[in-house]
Amino acid sequence: MAQHVEVMISEEEIDKRIKEIGEQISKDYAGKQVHLVCVLKGGVFFMVELAKRITTDVSMDFMSVSSYGSETKSSGVIKIVKDLDEPLRDKHVLVVEDIVDSGRTLSYLLEMLNSRGPASLKLCTLLDKPERRVIPVDVDYTGFEVPDEFVVGYGLDYDQKYRNLPFVGVVKFD
Ligand code: IMP
Ligand code: MG
Repeated sequence: MAQHVEVMISEEEIDKRIKEIGEQISKDYAGKQVHLVCVLKGGVFFMVELAKRITTDVSMDFMSVSSYGSETKSSGVIKIVKDLDEPLRDKHVLVVEDIVDSGRTLSYLLEMLNSRGPASLKLCTLLDKPERRVIPVDVDYTGFEVPDEFVVGYGLDYDQKYRNLPFVGVVKFD
């Protein structure tokens, strides 16, 4: 089926917002090293841009997870496909995600990371779809709240496509 993507949040708006969040994080973590944990693959575009806007010391690690079961009946139990390289003990961990939707993945992931004994653990997401929340998740930094529509771009995919779009958009079927 033919499809096209309509812009929802422009590249300029995203850049501006990432600068603001970077400044806020720099203030909140002043004098500390912030350890950014990227959830692959969606979080990578946001994390790289965000890291450039943080003025305190930054280290980074990456992990990849997949949910058990079918997409429609997600249990929220996730499988670690690629674990972090470094232990989290005593680090100021900031998880960087593309989007928080039902909250299932993040609530499970945060609990698991918390059990590794970080000095602190916070969550930063580019997008939040609060209407879709099933399990409450404390989000510390949010780029944009979006309506209940399937969005792509800036790391988010539809069938592995569109991650590389420099804006956030909505897929429309012609
Ligand atoms: P949650 O466990 O329902 O919060 O799932 C979050 C994950 O679902 C995100 O990390 C995305 O990979 C995916 N996801 C949720 N909503 C969208 C969307 O609108 N576009 C693309 N991926 C999405
Ligand atoms: Mg994701």
